[in-house]
Amino acid sequence: MSSLLIFGAGGHGRVVADAALRAAKWSLVFASDRDPVRCSGELLAGVALRPADAALAAAAAVHVAIGSAASREREVAALPPGVLATVVHPQSSVSAHASVSPGCFVAAQAVVAPLAILGRSVILNHGAVVDHDASVGDFSHVAPLAALGGGVKVGRRVLIGSGARVLPGLRIADDVVVGAGAVVCTHLDEAGVYAGVPARRLR
Ligand SMILES: CC(C)(COP(=O)(O)OP(=O)(O)OC[C@H]1O[C@@H](n2cnc3c(N)ncnc32)[C@H](O)[C@@H]1OP(=O)(O)O)[C@@H](O)C(=O)NCCC(=O)NCCS
Repeated sequence: MSSLLIFGAGGHGRVVADAALRAAKWSLVFASDRDPVRCSGELLAGVALRPADAALAAAAAVHVAIGSAASREREVAALPPGVLATVVHPQSSVSAHASVSPGCFVAAQAVVAPLAILGRSVILNHGAVVDHDASVGDFSHVAPLAALGGGVKVGRRVLIGSGARVLPGLRIADDVVVGAGAVVCTHLDEAGVYAGVPARRLR
């Protein structure tokens, strides 16, 4: 067992820290942030905050827990090779026949079905579902209670908002935002913001 640095000391960092403590896979869980104001005290009880440079230099395993896809991608790119850590809440359900790439976070009650693929540093939030044969590209985020039907292909840096649904077999392009509660009924082949039932482009 080694120590785990959670990099990103906001609300999402707290969720990841809670899951990491529950997973009981690391001897020590500690946290840091680019914002020096967030680098002292505790993120959660038992998860000390430390200054960023010292924390990053010392860590053998790092999970980047930043909600913004662009910031998460930038911080992951700056890490030394081999340190990127995946955090899976023990009360999620991840098929032994699914693929979960380094840096992913799988929250409580989330489901990753057989032959599903999660790319690097994907966030699969509370109760989200990635059904069989679906894939989620690097740095994307499937928000709480959102669901991707079987065979859905989601690009990179996509946000699927809370409670949204994507019907089976559809494609979602890179850098798309799907609003909370949307139902996606057609391929979304251009980057943009889509919302509503059925989902339509807002901009
Ligand atoms: C879709 C979304 C990205 C739009 O955000 P925005 O660009 O700031 O848009 P605005 O709030 O200015 O709203 C623009 C219009 O879209 C409507 N709208 C906003 N979100 C909507 C949604 N989810 N579904 C339907 N309509 C929506 C607004 O009512 C507004 O309509 P109007 O022009 O008739 O007044 C945002 O509302 C959203 O749903 N984000 C997802 C949040 C989420 O789930 N995060 C996960 C956290 S873990």
